[in-house]
Amino acid sequence: MKRIGMGIVGAGFVGPHHIDAVRRLGFVDVVGIAGSSEASAKAKAEQLGVPKSYASYEALIQDSDIEVVHNTTPNYLHYPVNLAVIEAGKHIVSDKPLAMNAEEARKLRDAAAVKGVVHAVTFNYRGNPLVQQMRLMIERGDIGRPHFLFGHYLQDWLLKDTDYSWRLEPDKGGASSALGDVGSHWCDLTQHVSGARITEVLAEISTTIPTRKKPLGSREAFAAAGANERVEKVEIKVEDLATVLVRFDSGARGVFSVSQVSAGHKNDLVLEVNGATGSLRWHQEQQNELWIGRRDQANQVLVKDPSLLDEPARRYAHLPGGHQEAWTDAFCNVMRDVYGYIAEGRDPKKDATPPAFATFEDGYRANCLVGAMLESAKSGKGWVKVQY
Ligand SMILES: NC(=O)c1ccc[n+]([C@@H]2O[C@H](COP(=O)([O-])OP(=O)(O)OC[C@H]3O[C@@H](n4cnc5c(N)ncnc54)[C@H](O)[C@@H]3O)[C@@H](O)[C@H]2O)c1
Repeated sequence: MKRIGMGIVGAGFVGPHHIDAVRRLGFVDVVGIAGSSEASAKAKAEQLGVPKSYASYEALIQDSDIEVVHNTTPNYLHYPVNLAVIEAGKHIVSDKPLAMNAEEARKLRDAAAVKGVVHAVTFNYRGNPLVQQMRLMIERGDIGRPHFLFGHYLQDWLLKDTDYSWRLEPDKGGASSALGDVGSHWCDLTQHVSGARITEVLAEISTTIPTRKKPLGSREAFAAAGANERVEKVEIKVEDLATVLVRFDSGARGVFSVSQVSAGHKNDLVLEVNGATGSLRWHQEQQNELWIGRRDQANQVLVKDPSLLDEPARRYAHLPGGHQEAWTDAFCNVMRDVYGYIAEGRDPKKDATPPAFATFEDGYRANCLVGAMLESAKSGKGWVKVQY
């Protein structure tokens, strides 16, 4: 199999997971890293056993050994880095959200289509075997027509006023925090699994902690404040809590909440779908189980076991039943789909059916959705039609 060269821009928290995932594929060479400085890129490259480092993302993109660029920088750098990669005619894997707003995301989607490069956004929950099983079951009609889709994505990493991240700064993270960061995952998962599109939203947002202590030095992503860390008080303008009512193009209704301030909830992502003859529920923190609800027979729990999954979902499971698959395995599955696509020389524009991984079209839609939710919450208009 032809080997594919990969480069990564911004290896902070999630970047090394991109590297691990592509290394597991067996035909991808991790060629180089670009960081915020030449020194940080060099240090990361040494730490992760990556041969090359660069002083800038522009230099990485120029390297002819690199065919695919992963962008795992903070959100404000998604647009310029993604665009430069596309203009160089290279394939792009961008972390989510695709861009700071729908307008930037639309330009990226259109530029990628013009260049004919493969474009992916890491809405990685799609890579879980039971998520794919749930999708197949809904498509096959196992629970009848879905009429209610609901759930949440709750976290607690911003519960204290000493907790801080660039995700809270609108010029770095965008106009939204909780909805953009984790609400986008819930919406992508729900639409991917159900095949239905969210067309209208009614949102309520709030900032539970309006003033925070921002560290004056650097701090690792998701790390707690140090004892003697110097800080400054800053006003927070983005939401850490939101509830959104949603309407789907299928006529189905839904509701979800997102929070970064719910003690005890880490990555508590839940999606439940109620249909005419049954229900399905997947909970990220118990991701090896799929709950099946019935009215006229006993409810069941399908425990992940490749031999019990339908064929198209089976290829997302790599361990026998009883061995837990996890976030990193699902992430690797998404990379397998993306690089399989690249290896086969496929063009998303020419494919009759969209790939299982999220493309820039999905990334664009996610930005449109978050924009509509903010509009609904801030304008007091009530229901807002999502403009795609
Ligand atoms: N898919 C997921 O589940 C998931 C999980 C975590 C993060 N993310 C996304 O990944 C992105 C990064 O998040 P993170 O938590 O890893 O953040 P992070 O702050 O830990 O890492 C960002 C990295 O980018 C580097 N960087 C900053 N400016 C740069 C520049 N000009 N050139 C190159 N590198 C630069 C920083 O030094 C840092 O190493 C965000 O967009 C986030 O939403 C996605």
